Amino acid sequence: MGERSEIETKLFDVRDFDLPKDDYGQALKDQFPEWRDAIIHADGLVIVTPEYNHGYPGILKSVLDLLLKEYIHKAVALVGVSAGPFGGTRVVEACLPMVRELGLAVTFTDLNFSSIKDKFDENGKLLDEAYEKRAKDFLDEIVWMSGALRWARKNLPSKHHQ
Ligand SMILES: Cc1cc2nc3c(=O)[nH]c(=O)nc-3n(C[C@H](O)[C@H](O)[C@H](O)COP(=O)(O)O)c2cc1C
Repeated sequence: MGERSEIETKLFDVRDFDLPKDDYGQALKDQFPEWRDAIIHADGLVIVTPEYNHGYPGILKSVLDLLLKEYIHKAVALVGVSAGPFGGTRVVEACLPMVRELGLAVTFTDLNFSSIKDKFDENGKLLDEAYEKRAKDFLDEIVWMSGALRWARKNLPSKHHQ
């Protein structure tokens, strides 16, 4: 994403969020202003998630639960990562009802990384060239959706917009 001039990115790793054990959702959002302000500024979101027992990790859900109205009518694209052969297809499916409830509009081009430990070398370099085209198609779609929804939020008033 960093190589594409039309995409301004900001990377968040959910491990860096020092969340309390109990779930307070939006009540905690001002404790994470960098995340809050990035989502307010963003037109789209790319979620990269490992598959844990066919679902998403609880920490990812806790981070997403910090906000709500800030996501509405913005785009989201999903990247599934798994140790097994199915490339996180099940965790991507599990995310759909959850991101919909957040008000996000999901793209129909996912990116799936199966057998993840064989896909990158020790320096994080991608070993499978087939992903070049898949990543291009994936990014083209999230860029289109983000732009279309940015236009719509600006030009088509909704009671859900801030
Ligand atoms: C608790 C747990 C459950 C997992 N469940 C699955 C699974 O259902 N399907 C699968 O393909 N891989 C599964 N894996 C392997 C993870 O998908 C793989 O380790 C992950 O993509 C890399 O993330 P990690 O760095 O958190 O391990 C599981 C791993 C853990 C720790």
